[in-house]
Amino acid sequence: MMIRTLTLAALAPAVLTLAAPALAQDDLANRPATDVVARGASPDGRITVTLSLDGEGRASYAVQKDGKPVIADSRLGFLFTDAPKIDRALTLAGTTRDKVDTTWKQPWGEWATIRDRHNELTVRLRESKNLKREIGVTFRIFDDGVGFRYTLPDQPNLHHANIAGELTEFAFAEPGTAWWKPAYLWNREEYLYKKTPLDGVGTAQTVMTVKLASGTHVAIHEAALVDYAGMNLRRSERPNAFQADLTPGSAAAAVSRDAGFSTPWRTIAIADDAPGLYYASRIGLNLNEPNKMGDVSWVKPGKFAGVWWNMIKGEWTWSRGPKHGATTANVKRYIDFAAANSIPGVLVEGWNIGWDGDWFGNGNDMQFDRQTEDFDAAELQRYARAKGVYLVGHHETGGSASHYDAQLDRAFKYAQDHGIPVVKTGYVTDAGQIERVDPDGSQHREWHEGQWMVNHYARVVTTAAKYRVAIDSHEPVKDTGLRRTYPNYVAREGGRGMEYMSWAGKNPPEHEANLAFTQLLGGPMDYTPGIVSLKGSNDSDIPSTMAKQLANYVVIYSPVVMVADTHEAYAKYPQVLPWLRAVPTDWSDTRVLNGEVGDYVTIARKKKGADEWFLGSVGDEEARSFTVPLDFLDAGRTYTAEIYRDGPGADYRTDARHSMTVETKAVKKGDSLTIALAPGGGEAVRFVPTGGAKKRR
Ligand code: NOJ
Ligand code: CA
Repeated sequence: MMIRTLTLAALAPAVLTLAAPALAQDDLANRPATDVVARGASPDGRITVTLSLDGEGRASYAVQKDGKPVIADSRLGFLFTDAPKIDRALTLAGTTRDKVDTTWKQPWGEWATIRDRHNELTVRLRESKNLKREIGVTFRIFDDGVGFRYTLPDQPNLHHANIAGELTEFAFAEPGTAWWKPAYLWNREEYLYKKTPLDGVGTAQTVMTVKLASGTHVAIHEAALVDYAGMNLRRSERPNAFQADLTPGSAAAAVSRDAGFSTPWRTIAIADDAPGLYYASRIGLNLNEPNKMGDVSWVKPGKFAGVWWNMIKGEWTWSRGPKHGATTANVKRYIDFAAANSIPGVLVEGWNIGWDGDWFGNGNDMQFDRQTEDFDAAELQRYARAKGVYLVGHHETGGSASHYDAQLDRAFKYAQDHGIPVVKTGYVTDAGQIERVDPDGSQHREWHEGQWMVNHYARVVTTAAKYRVAIDSHEPVKDTGLRRTYPNYVAREGGRGMEYMSWAGKNPPEHEANLAFTQLLGGPMDYTPGIVSLKGSNDSDIPSTMAKQLANYVVIYSPVVMVADTHEAYAKYPQVLPWLRAVPTDWSDTRVLNGEVGDYVTIARKKKGADEWFLGSVGDEEARSFTVPLDFLDAGRTYTAEIYRDGPGADYRTDARHSMTVETKAVKKGDSLTIALAPGGGEAVRFVPTGGAKKRR
């Protein structure tokens, strides 16, 4: 006590002189000139990044477009649980630069090829005192956005990093409107998007999309989330500013790993409008590592029907008993339906042992290599194969992730042995309640987006690959473009899919137009479209038109897509079948023809390996009409446009939601198409070439 008082007294004059400016300067927004120590620019020169150090050696970055700030000076740095933070006293230790312009092929996707053209700037920062640690910050600057990540090299005073959090900020340079969903709430990623001013955002998940006052559109997300905690965005005390908020783990540190690694990329997509953001989202794929799996020709995109919607409606059960859905007889009917309609897959849920108790948040009874007595796996495999159909598997873990880890090999061997090339996984438990049991028997609770689960999902995908199985995970960790590195990670749910249309609190008509410019910027979503009955549980009405259900097949991209309604519903509405048979799930080109976040979006995509184009347009609760130029069609050809549009009186609120007009029209490049969306409506168009020789290449 005595000593401390003495020491403080002795130091008092020095502390006082230092403390005054330090406090006054604490808010970076109010600080004058920081020194720009490094600059980089996009290949077209329009986007620039500056890295600055302030008088106390704190590092910040800023992003400008056409010389105008988009992201104002925003802090960089780390907090650790067992070491002082990396924040002040940083000095420039060096910079390196690189330029890249390559084009790579997607095994499947929205585009057959993707161009990666960026300039790279790496800045090394070193503490001038105390621990003298060094970190790197690498920026990749594209014509439509910026990605940056940290590197923590192994060094004498940093062999292992126990990261409590990042100081990384995203300070928008102007006020704006944000589309966001809350983080850390019990229902994980399954919240509707909110539209609020930037300063009304709570703690948000990424993708968060922002329209700045000037009209510039920005989407914040991350790429290549590997062996690290998922990032959320927490509003900081500065206006319009957010701080990276790392998802916690069951241990004190959000991230714990040996030094000598790079963090995920923090991405800032920048565009003039919403369609521009869709294209800009490709920076996320470019920032991921190339395919690590070699030959992935066994990963087959495709549609699937299945034993599903009746469970979501509560008419069948996953568990055994009188209403068990996954019986041999029921599955055969879906195989017949799939075979008759060129749908390659049939999903079966509730086929395995383990569903009989309360499986929500408890998957410890689940066995993924043991079928129920009324599900004859061998017979169904034979029956499906004879009809050219495969089964899509299902592993619901109930959040018991360690229990699943323990059986991964046998689960995927069972899938492979039964001709199952895709498995849908599930982690239905509240956020923060994933059950982890370590080899020493200790029990922990984890978040779906925490480092431990990030690694779990990676184990599932890489183990599945050994057995040539692709993964479609529900209740996943968000998509950060890992499909480039692991092409068998084909899809995720990660948001509110059609299942919410069955239950109370249905998705509103604007939902898909929100998804297109938020979640879908992160990657494919298993949305389970095609509920043409427009009926959910208790015979409730679904707030959509039938044409919109068809349009969703183009708007919401996923290489594996469900034809999700019951086969009885499709028998009742056969007018949808030609579309459902024809619409592909793999594309060589994608054009976003128009759109406003949460209002409407129109997308045209070209079928991979063919000359057909498909168009989908969806709106919100308002009726809307517009004309789109058909410039995307190939020149010198004529096409028949097969149009599925909202019919007379169509309206998501009335029985006319089924009103749909199907008509054909001859069109060619240069023509235009007028699209009239009903309230809650949509339009789907298939363009089939009819004439005009295609030039041979
Ligand atoms: C929630 C998933 O989103 C749904 O598709 C699945 O049927 C159930 N969990 C059961 O696994
Ligand atoms: Ca779900």
